Amino acid sequence: MLRKARCEGYAVGGFYAWNLELVQSVVNAAEGECSPAVLLINQTGLNYAGLEYYAAFAKKAAEKATVPIVLHLDHAQNLELVTQCIRCGFSSVMFDGSAFPLETNIELTRKVVEAAHGVGVSVEAELGRVPRAGNGLPVEVSEASMTDPDEARRFVDTTGIDALAVSVGTVHGLYKRYARLDFNRLKRIGDLTDVPLVLHGGTGIPDDAVHKAVELGVCKINVGEALRRAYLNGLKGALGNNSGKNDVMDVLASARLEAENVVRGKMRLFRSAGKAD
Ligand code: 13P
Repeated sequence: MLRKARCEGYAVGGFYAWNLELVQSVVNAAEGECSPAVLLINQTGLNYAGLEYYAAFAKKAAEKATVPIVLHLDHAQNLELVTQCIRCGFSSVMFDGSAFPLETNIELTRKVVEAAHGVGVSVEAELGRVPRAGNGLPVEVSEASMTDPDEARRFVDTTGIDALAVSVGTVHGLYKRYARLDFNRLKRIGDLTDVPLVLHGGTGIPDDAVHKAVELGVCKINVGEALRRAYLNGLKGALGNNSGKNDVMDVLASARLEAENVVRGKMRLFRSAGKAD
């Protein structure tokens, strides 16, 4: 899916889908926009939903969709979770060893690649560290936490990963504030590696930076915060005193639609709309 995106000059959105309604938001948007999509969930989300329940409905949604949908584990920090998810039908996993020193990250990532590739599952891994926005935290990302291009080449060559998540200035959890991307760094990483590149922190990437990043080899962009806000706003609006809604399904359907509209907008921005052929 990502190699096709790279050839054709667009990025596939990875969208956080914490529950049934959000899975439906992403699949409905993908079908409506004729776009491929990646459903993202992490350990915290799986703790909430229960891995087997979650995998059952997300896998079914992906199978029934009329466009390509991938079920992807985001930011796994141990091999045990990776293997549990693979057993439950995830077709793609991200191992995040970015908190470890380079050699440990390589060693752990290689183990994940070995386990995943043995059963035809693809692996994304992170080098450098994409920080998380917190109250009062500056949007500026330190050089030290960004991906070093030469290390990226070695990391990709020695681990055998299928996609590389890079730290080039994006920040997880930004909203109505924008990250400043280091395009020179991104270009060097793209020149030195031959795997699809992934950006995390997709909510806070300005529109023009998205297009430039795609030109430089970015094929997947993860979005969480924008969906979280849309879904919660949908719920709040539907539960407001004057909404007249007092049926559980009406309330959840409103939130689902708000999130779907955000996903559709991102698919157009990433230029994946119309690419599900
Ligand atoms: P945002 O929540 O900032 O959009 O980032 C999501 C993400 O990168 C998940 O891996």
